[in-house]
Amino acid sequence: MVKINIAKPIIEQEEIDNVVEVLKSGMIAQGPKVSEFEEKFAQWIGTKYGISTSSGTTALHTALLACGIGEGDEVITVGFTFAATSNSVLYTGARPVFVDIDEDTFTMDPSKIEDAITDKTKAILVVQLYGQSADMDPILDIAHKHNLLVIEDAAQAHGAEYKGRKVGTLGDVACFSFYPTKNMTTGEGGMITTDNEEIANMARIYRAHGSSVKYHHDYLGYNFRSTDIAAAIGLAQLKKIDSFNDKRNENASYLTDGLKDVKGVVPPVVKEGNKHVFHQYTIKVDGDRDKWLDFLNEKGIGCGVYYPIPLYNQKLYKDLGYNQSCPVTDKIVDEVISLPVHPSLTKDELDTIISVVKEGSEKFC
Ligand SMILES: Cc1ncc(COP(=O)(O)O)c(C=O)c1O
Repeated sequence: MVKINIAKPIIEQEEIDNVVEVLKSGMIAQGPKVSEFEEKFAQWIGTKYGISTSSGTTALHTALLACGIGEGDEVITVGFTFAATSNSVLYTGARPVFVDIDEDTFTMDPSKIEDAITDKTKAILVVQLYGQSADMDPILDIAHKHNLLVIEDAAQAHGAEYKGRKVGTLGDVACFSFYPTKNMTTGEGGMITTDNEEIANMARIYRAHGSSVKYHHDYLGYNFRSTDIAAAIGLAQLKKIDSFNDKRNENASYLTDGLKDVKGVVPPVVKEGNKHVFHQYTIKVDGDRDKWLDFLNEKGIGCGVYYPIPLYNQKLYKDLGYNQSCPVTDKIVDEVISLPVHPSLTKDELDTIISVVKEGSEKFC
């Protein structure tokens, strides 16, 4: 049986040659390639600074620390995201406060934010989920009104845009992931982008054991550094990310054309003014979602549920005393299925995905 993978990193000769060059150079930890990658990535995003880290998770942790967030603070975020988003708030000693999402885009619902603000709130941590920006203007207005920082979790949204502005430039600071399933990869890796010199400086310090001068430790920092090996891969990927994103968009349009009139299936909604980069192509389905998943897997269609459990319902959060419900999040976790949309898909594979989903609709809707 043919298997169509949900994700497929594209590693070509240039990535391999770049890595070999680094390996031969003798500088395989954080060195000149990391600096070059930071500069070029920040330039592509459109910020003054790029600070590379060992993962998207450590980028979030570092960025929160660099914003001065810690014990006694609250950070408003969503429960419909990967655990790293809110766990990174916990790492700092602060408390994540969960608000609901918009039913169409699955991103933070700005109308829910103000009710969650207390005198402890320090920041809004917005997730640019599946490759699409949240509705940032109202979020930025609320942040401005209440003097809150805005942090973008852009782990899934390299190259996405909101009203012509690139994700990663929209708040005070943003964090990207380069995990292999992401729109571009370095193996493991992350990047912080910001225009704020102080946040950039503090991020570099927290990344390196709280130290700006060797063996002088002013803060409790970490080893969250990246490597020249990872940066060598990233530099090659950066040349191709726009074409990867174009192909993801083409594939998404093709899938949506094929699925838009299928009973019980809702294709992804791209909000006007947004450039979606389709890290995930996520449909909502009627009927028993588990049966859908079994059926798609049986037919060789790689698929995933991102995410099956709201974060506030995870055991970790229950044990911390969370007892929360967000009605849209609670409903959507049982409806979503992500289908393959990666740039290597062939037209035949896209046609197979469409016809299997149509078959599923006949069976389950
Ligand atoms: C929304 C979101 N935030 C944070 C992360 C963490 O990134 P990493 O896996 O590179 O640590 C991910 C990665 O899966 C993610 O999807």
